[in-house]
Amino acid sequence: MFLCHLEELPEYGTRGFAIGQQEIFVIRQATQIWAYMNRCPHTGVTLNWVPDQFLDWEGRYVQCATHGALFRFEDGLCLAGPCPGTHLEPVPLSLIGGEIYLTNPGKIRS
Ligand code: FES
Repeated sequence: MFLCHLEELPEYGTRGFAIGQQEIFVIRQATQIWAYMNRCPHTGVTLNWVPDQFLDWEGRYVQCATHGALFRFEDGLCLAGPCPGTHLEPVPLSLIGGEIYLTNPGKIRS
């Protein structure tokens, strides 16, 4: 399922998307991208308070806006905060010729 073009994402930042009733977000660092469900493993709430803003002030980690948990881009591992060792739920993506596709959109809709 086509999601967006790479250039529609900030070069070093994040953007949220609604897939049916579910919310996901995509992290871009130049040519690298990762996506996760917009759900904090601590309590299950959405991670962001401001649209499309999922990173800490230095732009180095995903940060939950509720209690400040910090998550690594590469694997969604929580490194600090109230739920260390837990993970964000990954959303598989493919980047093909500058276009980003959801690899398994059926899993997200369920
Ligand atoms: S709800 Fe995310 S850190 Fe508590």
